[in-house]
Amino acid sequence: MRPTPRSFLPLAAVLATALLLAACGRKDEAPTSAVPTSASAPAPARTYLVGTDAAYAPFESQNPKGEIVGFDVDVVGAVAKAAGIQVKFVNTPWEGIFNALAQGDRDLVASAVTITDERRQTMDFSDPYFDAQQLIAVPLASKVERFADLKTLKVGVQTGTTGDEAVSRLLGKTNPDIRRFESTPLALQELQDGGVDAVVADNGVVIHYVLNNPGGKFRTVADDSFVHERYGIAVKKGNAELLAKLNQGLAAIKADGEYARIYARYFGAAPAAPAASN
Ligand code: ARG
Repeated sequence: MRPTPRSFLPLAAVLATALLLAACGRKDEAPTSAVPTSASAPAPARTYLVGTDAAYAPFESQNPKGEIVGFDVDVVGAVAKAAGIQVKFVNTPWEGIFNALAQGDRDLVASAVTITDERRQTMDFSDPYFDAQQLIAVPLASKVERFADLKTLKVGVQTGTTGDEAVSRLLGKTNPDIRRFESTPLALQELQDGGVDAVVADNGVVIHYVLNNPGGKFRTVADDSFVHERYGIAVKKGNAELLAKLNQGLAAIKADGEYARIYARYFGAAPAAPAASN
């Protein structure tokens, strides 16, 4: 998301004030400068940009004010605080999110990202911070009882997610009955509209959708054949310095109870075995 012209205003105001003050300054005053002049002056704290596809409640979504909110935002915010770094979430389409990381347009990706061996080839992950599994959403009247029952049905997924991978394995990657969408809400909308028979996505998101769907027209179907997944915060491959800070912050918030407090806010109770405690 590009900064809107409006978001430049505060900065412009600060600059204008600074110029005004400088112009008013008496000649005999010691010159002041925002730029550190001695080698020992601390470098200005940098803000790390966090890419997230903010259409994945309750992990990341936009509130009515357009602010990015959710479990991931709170966890990464707390991690950053514990690690003494600054972060700013930037809404980033899922389809380009890892590319943005590789290009350096984002420093981190925190977007309910499952740690997979394939992704590990092209990015590095923090220690895991959340346990997940795929879950199926179907209309109440659906006959689906297990994942294998989707084999002959039309299934909606978000492109390039682990849900897409699971359904691709079952139906065949090029099967036209796999309907791929650029966001999970679009896949769920298609379920609502009757264009697909089921949607496969992360359990937290599917449960959130079914519980909040007005009219309660959907139910979930779990299946043990879905692999266990764990979310991690991704950084550019080789960015060991940032990774170390993230892991240090994560360990700190798991140890001091902050992680459990955030977890309870979103999921009701603290995880039995702290999610992905390694
Ligand atoms: N956990 C799944 C994956 O990593 C889905 C993540 C989708 N996240 C999102 N914000 N849309 O593939």
